[in-house]
Amino acid sequence: MPSLQGKSASDIEAAMTAFRTGGREATVMDRIAKGFTKRETNAIADWLAQAGAAK
Ligand code: HEM
Repeated sequence: MPSLQGKSASDIEAAMTAFRTGGREATVMDRIAKGFTKRETNAIADWLAQAGAAK
């Protein structure tokens, strides 16, 4: 599983959007990403980027 440590909110958001829309091949992330709205995806990306940067 790739690490999200140090990734920016926009990187995470772009990856989740690609998984959700089928633009990026995935094993599990396509199914996970489809469970969130765009708004939720943005909120998760912001939160994870902050958590990663704080370490
Ligand atoms: C809200 C929860 C999650 C978020 C926001 C998230 C986010 C991401 C992101 C941004 C990537 C791309 C990383 C990169 O390009 O370096 C990724 C990849 C991946 N994640 Fe997650 N993830 C979540 C939950 C999970 C869970 C629960 C699993 C395992 C059960 C998982 C397994 C993977 C795997 C295996 C990949 C590689 C792509 C694939 O094969 O699907 N993720 N994730």
